[in-house]
Amino acid sequence: MSQKTKKKKRSVSGWRLKSIGWIRTPYKEKAPRHGRENDPGIFRLVLDPEYAGGLDHLGQFKYIYVIAYLHQSGKKYPLKVSPPWARGKVVGVFASRSPQRPNPIGLTIARIKKIRGNEIFTTGLDLLDGTPLLDIKPYIKDADVKSKANNGWIRRNLNSPWSKQKDKSSR
Ligand SMILES: C[S@@+](CC[C@H](N)C(=O)[O-])C[C@H]1O[C@@H](n2cnc3c(N)ncnc32)[C@H](O)[C@@H]1O
Repeated sequence: MSQKTKKKKRSVSGWRLKSIGWIRTPYKEKAPRHGRENDPGIFRLVLDPEYAGGLDHLGQFKYIYVIAYLHQSGKKYPLKVSPPWARGKVVGVFASRSPQRPNPIGLTIARIKKIRGNEIFTTGLDLLDGTPLLDIKPYIKDADVKSKANNGWIRRNLNSPWSKQKDKSSR
């Protein structure tokens, strides 16, 4: 393979991401499947100080997307998964929120409680303590709320982590 082809290949598939900080949660071994606003404990995104300047004006938003590298996911990722609450239903990994995926990226929406220096205090996160933080983006009401969104294959009778009765805070 020529140097040029090698370079081209790397530019579409060989890149690396760097963490911008660490996620601190009370969960040392097991995290919930879904973070909730009233989960007890302290949840913090601790940015490496060099990125603190990037937090300007973030505090004007109520919610953020927390994008994380699920570092304990392991290398295996089945393309078909059956979430433990799905009563045996099998779906594609991309139709699921399984943490085992080709790129083990976690996406969690949380409310900002306060920002202090390079730290963001949030409501409950479904992430293990020490998870590497990849990115933060504001959750923008006019851009992100989809009034026609549905629950796909996740039927009401399934005891999913998003079952309404469990999350009184989001009503
Ligand atoms: C189902 S995932 C959902 C995460 C996120 N809300 C999403 O949709 O991408 C949440 C689960 O990820 C797992 N998890 C959390 N942090 C992890 C980490 N650092 N490495 C591997 N798995 C992790 C825990 O088992 C947790 O219950």
